[in-house]
Amino acid sequence: MRIDVVSIFPDYLAPLELSLVGKAAQSGLLDLTVHDLRSWATDRHRTVDDTPFGGGAGMVMRPDVWGAALADVLTPDATLVVPTPSGETFTQRVAEQLALEPALVFACGRYEGIDARVAEHHRAAGGTVRELSIGDYVLNGGEVASLVMIEAVARLLPGVIGNPESLVEESHGEAGLLEYPVYTKPPSWQGLDVPEVLLSGHHAKIARWRRNRAIERTIARRPDMIEALDPSMLDKADRAL
Ligand code: ADE
Repeated sequence: MRIDVVSIFPDYLAPLELSLVGKAAQSGLLDLTVHDLRSWATDRHRTVDDTPFGGGAGMVMRPDVWGAALADVLTPDATLVVPTPSGETFTQRVAEQLALEPALVFACGRYEGIDARVAEHHRAAGGTVRELSIGDYVLNGGEVASLVMIEAVARLLPGVIGNPESLVEESHGEAGLLEYPVYTKPPSWQGLDVPEVLLSGHHAKIARWRRNRAIERTIARRPDMIEALDPSMLDKADRAL
């Protein structure tokens, strides 16, 4: 997969060189490039923003500068991702969809956002544009949101995670439940013991115990996810909880 990120703060994206995403880029699984939006500005001050038409606080990013940047960076096969608090919610399902794309271009807005004609223009030209929010809070720009989305997508690409089994039983996975609690050595720590069943070697009992804890946890922490569960996904023992 190719990923391009356009930002006025390319240094903000430095963490992409680290850890799993960095390794994926080094090994060639991911072709990742970060661009400085200001290199497409045309005036002496390399201006990228201006005051909003209609008035109001803050500044809006200029469509001509973004248009020039995207004309160079965006290929016809690429999906344009615009992080914005007014976007659709970015979820694990969206991450799964994006992971199937050949190329993604992240356009990081700052200030009050990017002139709305940029997304409109690319949609009208037949391109795919996803305006996405990582949650109901406001960040100073799209850079951190892009880091979040790129990490969530990159770890789904074949070969990026050493053991693909670790993708199977995760929170927000197919089961529609949060993940069960996990434990490692030592078996006793600070007077707290690892639940006996996990030391038993009894696979069916362990699976049942984990499912029960996942359901309890989801009921306590995310009642909205319980509401959204397909009842046919629950067995008799689940319903007793
Ligand atoms: N930019 C600012 N806030 C954001 C959010 N919550 N999600 C995505 N992009 C943003």
